[in-house]
Amino acid sequence: MEVIIQQDYEQMSRTAARIVAEVLNTKPNAVLGMATGSTPLGLYQELVRLHQKEQLDFSRVTTFNLDEYVGLTVNHPQSYHYFMHEHFFRHVNVPAQNINIPSGTTSNYPAFCEWYEKRIAECGGIDLQILGIGSDGHIAFNEPGSSLTSRTRLKTLSKQTIDDNARFFEHREDVPVYAITMGVGTILDARKLVLVASGGHKAKAIAQAVEGPVTSMVTASALQLHRDAIVITDEEAAADLTMRDYYQFIYAAKPAAPK
Ligand code: GLP
Repeated sequence: MEVIIQQDYEQMSRTAARIVAEVLNTKPNAVLGMATGSTPLGLYQELVRLHQKEQLDFSRVTTFNLDEYVGLTVNHPQSYHYFMHEHFFRHVNVPAQNINIPSGTTSNYPAFCEWYEKRIAECGGIDLQILGIGSDGHIAFNEPGSSLTSRTRLKTLSKQTIDDNARFFEHREDVPVYAITMGVGTILDARKLVLVASGGHKAKAIAQAVEGPVTSMVTASALQLHRDAIVITDEEAAADLTMRDYYQFIYAAKPAAPK
């Protein structure tokens, strides 16, 4: 696992966007895995800037989102469909038919989940998966106890996640209790993983994910099993990493990517 500790949120976001852009420059028809949450917002803003100012082209890109709340329609302001259109898709040129986001309103969840997995495979698999991390160490909505080989399925949200996400809803009771989410196994199948984390409230989860044991109780720790996983944090989210000087030393010694 590569750990990149950046000074602040802006730098973290720019570094993550540069990695996405590099993938698109080598493979213009790449399949991107998208994440929601407040953390990747800066990364999306930077990708939008690169598209508008530096011709970063998404016209051949296909995307798959990690997850969606069960019961929220695509127009609900807290749905991940709405989030993605608002913060990313309406500003770039990913063709509408290439955008895949799990349905929160299907009448048959098992069939939908199976179809989603099949669709990812038909598109050749995910080249780069963007990830955030929950304060309980989850990736997507793979809550503590999720099998590390799990696939796309319905998941019950933990109390911690409902509390964390209540800030986006009017009342805590409005937060959906279920979500449809790619599994940890689905995520590990992506060819490259980029996880972004910012702020002191993520420090414990990052330390557990990067330096703790691989355990289904912290599903982000499964990144340790992946051959090309990059964790990008700001200083605050890196605060509990015991090897932080070592990661910084490695990153500083790394030759700059050719322009
Ligand atoms: C939700 C999402 C995750 C995200 C997490 C953290 O639980 N399903 O994909 O990583 O929130 O969100 P934030 O970046 O807002 O802290």
